[in-house]
Amino acid sequence: MLTKTIPINEIPRNRERREPITHETLRALVDFENGSIDRRLYWDDEIYSLEMERIFARTWLFVAHESQVAEYGDFLTTFMGEDGVIVTRGQDGKVNVFLNSCTHRGNKICLAEAGNKRRFTCNYHGWTFDSAGVLVGLPQEELYNNTCRDFKKSELGIRKARVESYKGLVFATFNEEAESLEQFLGDYRWYLDILLDNDPGGTEFLPGNIKSHMACNWKYPSENFAGDSYHAAWTHNSGAVALFGKGVDNKYDQSKVYQANMNGHCWQFGLDQIGNAMVLGEQDILDYLKENDAKVIARLGKLRSRMIGSISSANLFPHTSFLPGQNTFRTWHPKGPSKIELHTWVLVNKSAPEALKTMYMRGVMRSFSPSGVLEMDDGDNWENATATNLGVVTRRQKLHYGLGIDSRIEHEELKGNVHLRKYNDANQLAFYRRWMELMCDERSL
Ligand code: FES
Ligand SMILES: [Fe+2]
Repeated sequence: MLTKTIPINEIPRNRERREPITHETLRALVDFENGSIDRRLYWDDEIYSLEMERIFARTWLFVAHESQVAEYGDFLTTFMGEDGVIVTRGQDGKVNVFLNSCTHRGNKICLAEAGNKRRFTCNYHGWTFDSAGVLVGLPQEELYNNTCRDFKKSELGIRKARVESYKGLVFATFNEEAESLEQFLGDYRWYLDILLDNDPGGTEFLPGNIKSHMACNWKYPSENFAGDSYHAAWTHNSGAVALFGKGVDNKYDQSKVYQANMNGHCWQFGLDQIGNAMVLGEQDILDYLKENDAKVIARLGKLRSRMIGSISSANLFPHTSFLPGQNTFRTWHPKGPSKIELHTWVLVNKSAPEALKTMYMRGVMRSFSPSGVLEMDDGDNWENATATNLGVVTRRQKLHYGLGIDSRIEHEELKGNVHLRKYNDANQLAFYRRWMELMCDERSL
């Protein structure tokens, strides 16, 4: 499904002569001290290629929820950067992630989006791989055995990624040198538990997945979910009027709302408990959250129980975003400097009543799907912010990221780097700090 198509001549293209990118060039692109960013981050092909090498081929990336590949043979296809991959449950019960590309001539070996298969047979010459990417059969194998120099079938398996899970979320990386997933997530796990561990039954993705395109740079939506609370009362005001008959309140007490970040993972939140869930417009969901309140307090403590559905948003570096309580969960897959493929799911507690799961689904469709009121609001802004960079004069003017630059506080309970007030650019700068760290790291992979 297409959220909106920008005519091809409006999409920013590379047409300026530039010096090669060095550390100095990269460092000069973001002024963390005063808060400004060079627009080159959003349109340059060379920067984009470096992002694919130094970020997407290097860090852990969310690839699936365990519930999507519950049984042996269950699979889905997705992307790690621009590398197509297959995520599938093997016979040994482990989740495998390997490239969706045949080792013979490179054809895709799986054309489906999801299903159940124990073998993947390539459409081109019929090479067949098992659910761990091992080459298990090929037509006229004796020809290869007799006419190749030292033919070793066992060496023609498909490149596998490292795979680790955290409470239902499956991550993968092709970087053998990468830290463990535990280290990668760090204290962000304390926040993730609000979403993933507020109920002993755990979570699942509801069946189905929406895939849509937007003509924007992948960092615009990622940084928006990381901490752009400031846009909501303005961008989504008319959407809120359409959904609820009244606009967004932008006068709430900023002394009790926060941004927190660690390793580039960001979460901005209030302590209003059911604010986000109200967006779904389903009274039964609010009742469910209230009914579960005591159990959640016992499980996560009072403070985190207030964050469960609070008006909040989060981005797990680099490109996975969600709205706790509202329960849309998405990845913004980069497809060039000015295009993304957005994958959207609905995350729910497994033990929630079926009728309630349907309500969550309906609420997400109304708000954050290609036809959702709030997603259309956001999509227009991100596409236009990307498209203006077509202008060579426009792209020379830097962007302002200096709101609330000195808002860091110490907090007794909250983990990570904590900033007071949601209306600030702290999390967005933290996202770019991690971006810069990885972009300047030239270690080979
Ligand atoms: S390209 Fe896959 S079998 Fe030839
Ligand atoms: Fe928004």
